[in-house]
Amino acid sequence: MTTMPKHIAIFASGSGSNAENIIRHINRPQSKGLVKLVISNRSDAGVLQRAKDLGVDSIVVDKDKLNDSDYMLRLLEKHRIEIAVLAGFLLMIPPFLIHRFEGNMVNIHPSLLPKFGGKGMFGRHVHEAVIKSGETESGITIHLVNEEYDRGKILLQVSCPVKPNDTAESLEKRIRELEVQNFPSVVESLL
Ligand code: GRF
Repeated sequence: MTTMPKHIAIFASGSGSNAENIIRHINRPQSKGLVKLVISNRSDAGVLQRAKDLGVDSIVVDKDKLNDSDYMLRLLEKHRIEIAVLAGFLLMIPPFLIHRFEGNMVNIHPSLLPKFGGKGMFGRHVHEAVIKSGETESGITIHLVNEEYDRGKILLQVSCPVKPNDTAESLEKRIRELEVQNFPSVVESLL
């Protein structure tokens, strides 16, 4: 008996390298999952072109629409989405969406949470703060999303060294490699 793949939506605001990596990994024949939709809050986000090139539907959802439960729940039902992946999505997720995906919404954060998490800690700001603090280690955290920002159950943490001559750019590069190596398999583990 063949079972239907679980539909996944990826929420992303930026270039979409994680989104592309996950789509390439998951959207294969016989896979237990299928990335069905990419949701971005920015009409100029690189992730939209990547989705198009990979044949995945995408939609731009501004802050008002994201917070409109009728609109969002209908959108997710239409595509029969069961799993939500936050891959560099910069808007706060409203509580009704967190409940909709209880145990099935995952986020990636480019530090070893709870260090360097919370408000204002995204993208380059995280790496700048890590370097400024003199930490000798950083890494990634992949976690379930609950109502406490950056505090959901941790599914995986992988660390890497912060080298004496690191800049925010060089550290970000090292951390992005960890994201590429690890995010798809954690998404797969939810299927
Ligand atoms: C990643 O570094 C991720 O950890 C962070 O946002 C970045 C997204 O990059 N939360 P991309 O859009 O996947 O290229």
